[in-house]
Amino acid sequence: MLLRAVAFLALVFQTVWVGAEVAIQGTGRTLTLGGVSYFVSPSPVSALHDVAALSVAAKSASSGLVPISVIPTSKFVFDSSALQDTINDWSIRDDVWTKEFLTGIYVTYNGTRTFPSTSLLTAQRSFGIDFVLLSQSYLFGVPLMNALPAGPYMLEPASGNIFEVFRLYNDENQSFVYGTIPDGNGGFQVLSARIPGAATETVGVPSRLYFTPTAEKPLAGMRLAVKDIYDVKGLRTGCGNRAFWQLYPPKEATAPAIQRLLNGGMVLVGKTKTSQFANGETATDDWVDLHAPYNPRGDGYQDGSSSSTGSGTAVAAYPWLDFAIGSDTGGSMRGPAGANGVFGNRPSHGAVLLNDVMPLSPELDTAGIFSRDARLWATAGHWWYENFTSFSHFPKKLLFPVDFFGSSYLTNPPTTGSTDDTFNTFITKLEGFLNTTRTEMTLAGSWNTTKPANVSAPSLQTLLSTTYADLITLDQIQLVADPFIADFGAANGGRTPFIDPAPLARWGYGRGLPVGRKEEALANKTIFMDWFSSAVVHSDATTCSDSILLYPQSSGRTNYRNRYISAPSAPLGFSSGRISVHAEVPDMVVPIGEAPFNSTITGRTEFLPVTISFIAAKGCDLMLFNLFAELQDAGIIRPVVTGSRMFT
Ligand SMILES: *[C@@H]1O[C@H](CO)[C@@H](O)[C@H](O)[C@H]1NC(C)=O
Ligand SMILES: *[C@@H]1O[C@H](CO)[C@@H](O)[C@H](O)[C@H]1NC(C)=O
Ligand SMILES: *[C@@H]1O[C@H](CO)[C@@H](O)[C@H](O)[C@H]1NC(C)=O
Ligand SMILES: *[C@@H]1O[C@H](CO)[C@@H](O)[C@H](O)[C@H]1NC(C)=O
Ligand SMILES: *[C@@H]1O[C@H](CO)[C@@H](O)[C@H](O)[C@H]1NC(C)=O
Ligand SMILES: *[C@@H]1O[C@H](CO)[C@@H](O)[C@H](O)[C@H]1NC(C)=O
Ligand SMILES: *[C@@H]1O[C@H](CO)[C@@H](O)[C@H](O)[C@H]1NC(C)=O
Ligand SMILES: *[C@@H]1O[C@H](CO)[C@@H](O)[C@H](O)[C@H]1NC(C)=O
Repeated sequence: MLLRAVAFLALVFQTVWVGAEVAIQGTGRTLTLGGVSYFVSPSPVSALHDVAALSVAAKSASSGLVPISVIPTSKFVFDSSALQDTINDWSIRDDVWTKEFLTGIYVTYNGTRTFPSTSLLTAQRSFGIDFVLLSQSYLFGVPLMNALPAGPYMLEPASGNIFEVFRLYNDENQSFVYGTIPDGNGGFQVLSARIPGAATETVGVPSRLYFTPTAEKPLAGMRLAVKDIYDVKGLRTGCGNRAFWQLYPPKEATAPAIQRLLNGGMVLVGKTKTSQFANGETATDDWVDLHAPYNPRGDGYQDGSSSSTGSGTAVAAYPWLDFAIGSDTGGSMRGPAGANGVFGNRPSHGAVLLNDVMPLSPELDTAGIFSRDARLWATAGHWWYENFTSFSHFPKKLLFPVDFFGSSYLTNPPTTGSTDDTFNTFITKLEGFLNTTRTEMTLAGSWNTTKPANVSAPSLQTLLSTTYADLITLDQIQLVADPFIADFGAANGGRTPFIDPAPLARWGYGRGLPVGRKEEALANKTIFMDWFSSAVVHSDATTCSDSILLYPQSSGRTNYRNRYISAPSAPLGFSSGRISVHAEVPDMVVPIGEAPFNSTITGRTEFLPVTISFIAAKGCDLMLFNLFAELQDAGIIRPVVTGSRMFT
């Protein structure tokens, strides 16, 4: 009883207390500073060699922690104006550091003079800084156990320990499963913090000032969220199913696709929600185990599409997040990119290894990334898809499939301000940039005239109507459903786990298929892929792809999340979204505008995203990334902002 009481007190004060029989491990501290919530890492990053150097005021800090700023400088005369310049720069670059961290400063001077300039003392007085510590390059400097980069920290005067701080944000759009922090062993742990009074998950982000991009780490400090189908060392993988999350232990390795991004310097801040087992689900009816994340665009009550819903909504909602990873088997990146109005891609099949990632269908699965900025997107894409060749010359041929855009363009110019006009205006600018004019065609007509002589299928509908549904269900039953159901049964007295209606309906369809369907589906997929790469879009030595095929991704149409629809069924049929799935080619979504609608939720005119898809030949992902970066520089593509509206 006594031990328990002591343990309880120790937890309350979040200290580390090691007794004879129990060891208590602190999980970090949550506090507010100047009205902003922060999380203080459980383990120190450095420590002062000598706490005697601290002022009495610092030592008696009532919270046991003192906010400090580490300020590197090469200026011998670090005066008020130099400090003001630093403050101005940091206020723009970082959302974690605030002036509250000027209680104490630790100046790391990397020049050769050994005596500090007295101008530092003037600066100290004019900014109300309690104490100044100097690095060991000065004669009276106080060395650190480990050198520290610039930025905000918490100093524990009693021990001299110095801790990193994370600014805490509310997950208002319910995009996250949880926030994460590094565990100090190359893995991650679930963030234990919650903003006082918050009704949602909390996510913590480290200061941007801690990181400087280099050639080896071009993405240093970029904040990343990862769809909860990718394994991350130290965390469980939930795949949107509560029983699955509970059954399997935390992972011992991080998926190589994610590790590559971490190696490039990205900072993992959390895991995002997926519709169950990455199957398509609609917000109202299908999300039984998890609540569907909120699409921030328009009235906030539009379906965020699936399955990378958490990742797409998070990038559209949170300015403090830079990138989110999703996956695309049949549209799981492109749907959310279109619905939430952000950049998002389905890469060429095989672009990154998908070991330690939950499969839907290995023949079709791909890993994509969401961003709000075409240039940053390109930087991430170049790093991630490292094995593709970069091309900086662009195709001159723009394929404009009338069967997907509609024939209205051909007869009359679209009404000004209409969605058709948004597409047309963008494509006209693209024509100008590429110095070309669009080639009108229909995919169905191309198939009619150029299909292989020995293939009987009269239409792409006949050839591909069940191909996708057959592959994903047969693969996922074998690779995920059956092992999971068996493992769950073994651990739960033969019981079956709860499965959401959508994956259940799909698996039910797959279980009813005759033997030999997978081989037949793969054969049809190959027929389409070979035809597409020879008759429609093919490789080119100078521009990687001889042409770019465009199609509308989202047209600003409403899809209210409070609308009951029919029961889920197998995803049959062929449409524009299936081209890249079967042809293994990149399909990249670019936001180009907004369309107004009268919201039945708000009773006001709101706006929803208009986005367009770019398809090129297989392996030409980097050519497209380069094109988008240049189009952004030319003002033809604009970065999007977070929140209800996409453009400022
Ligand atoms: C000294 O520090 C400044 C400021 O951090 C930095 O820009 C500069 O590169 C450093 N110089 C050396 C020689 O490390
Ligand atoms: C989505 O998040 C934004 C903050 O980025 C918030 O203003 C908005 O209310 C949220 N929308 C919903 C529907 O929760
Ligand atoms: C890309 O190349 C690297 C180095 O050769 C290799 O380790 C990696 O497996 C390749 N990735 C893919 C997806 O083929
Ligand atoms: C655009 O293309 C036309 C015809 O192919 C060519 O004559 C012209 O020089 C090109 N202009 C530019 C700026 O490349
Ligand atoms: C394809 O060819 C058939 C038979 O010639 C014709 O009936 C059909 O309209 C054509 N379809 C398209 C989309 O061109
Ligand atoms: C059609 O012919 C091509 C080339 O002769 C061959 O490679 C392919 O296997 C044939 N396909 C079918 C479905 O018979
Ligand atoms: C394959 O294509 C044929 C038409 O050529 C079609 O009848 C069949 O249903 C397709 N099968 C699958 C599994 O896609
Ligand atoms: C919204 O409703 C008003 C009044 O009925 C109508 O004039 C307007 O065209 C509608 N706007 C849209 C975008 O549908």
